[in-house]
Amino acid sequence: MSTPFVSVLALRSHTKSWGDCCQGVAIPVRDSAQLENGETMGTANDDLAPEMEALKAKLKATWMSGDFDKIAQIYAPGAAEFVERLALRPGERVLDVACGTGNLSFPASRAGARVVGLDIAPNLLETARARAQAEGLEIRFDEGDAEQLLYEDAAFDTVITMFGAMFAPRPEKAAAELIRVSRPGGRIVMANWTPTGFIGQMFKTTSAHVPPPPGMQSPVRWGDEEVVRERLRDGITSLELTRRHISFKFPLAVPDVIEFWRAWYGPTQRAFAALDENGQQALRRDLERLWSEHNRATDGTTHVESEYLEVVAVRG
Ligand SMILES: C[S@@+](CC[C@H](N)C(=O)[O-])C[C@H]1O[C@@H](n2cnc3c(N)ncnc32)[C@H](O)[C@@H]1O
Repeated sequence: MSTPFVSVLALRSHTKSWGDCCQGVAIPVRDSAQLENGETMGTANDDLAPEMEALKAKLKATWMSGDFDKIAQIYAPGAAEFVERLALRPGERVLDVACGTGNLSFPASRAGARVVGLDIAPNLLETARARAQAEGLEIRFDEGDAEQLLYEDAAFDTVITMFGAMFAPRPEKAAAELIRVSRPGGRIVMANWTPTGFIGQMFKTTSAHVPPPPGMQSPVRWGDEEVVRERLRDGITSLELTRRHISFKFPLAVPDVIEFWRAWYGPTQRAFAALDENGQQALRRDLERLWSEHNRATDGTTHVESEYLEVVAVRG
């Protein structure tokens, strides 16, 4: 049997409650899967079609390429503001889906919430765990898939995801899982790049040179209000959609920003790697044009603002 994400450490009929303690942060785990030690995490078999399994393996490898933490640090202040708006209560149970290195998990934990972060990329989780230990924060980081969350129904008060769950290839499954693990009255809060915002345009520019893998819906559809209403129509009592902006400021000129992005952002790294020399030059030229057109800095550095859709849904 093959599994999309490392080995399944343990599959047992067992349920943990928030009262149980498991490496700092106790979590209620679904019957079909039990977290063993918090170091690595597999998922229960989703009976994936071979094409979907291959796509998921490719997406995982893409996100493990480069070092997303270098990009995450650039917009960490905007991530902290997103968490501040949540006004989390001490002890609130928060799940950060597709947490990366914890841009949302850390400010949520500092605010006193009990935080679990989940991501498909084990290398990013390693960075997050080391940082949590260094800061003395009890955040649990699990390896897993947004389309098949490891937790029991209604396990969390607030489920958050910043530029994360939007990248799951089967959005209906991701949406259903975000809702399933939220308690009635709990919140599901997403930050999703819009198609017309800067990062949305960057995806479009890159896709013109390297088409996305077959079977993959465009992630930025999660940044379209109508699509979000449709995807979150079941099990929600209220839905607030707000367009916001987040800053990317680099002490670098535009061409160096492109190289920075290429070195550290897995999807951009993979796109360049798929092209020959001429293709790389063409992609670089188009990305430089896009960044230059949006650059607000006038001192030789780079500052762009990228639009995203903030989604606040309340679970019925
Ligand atoms: C753009 S990064 C954002 C990370 C983090 N939320 C932040 O804002 O810093 C996207 C993240 O989504 C994760 N990811 C992509 N698809 C996923 C999936 N199906 N399940 C869980 N995580 C996923 C990637 O590994 C990556 O860490």
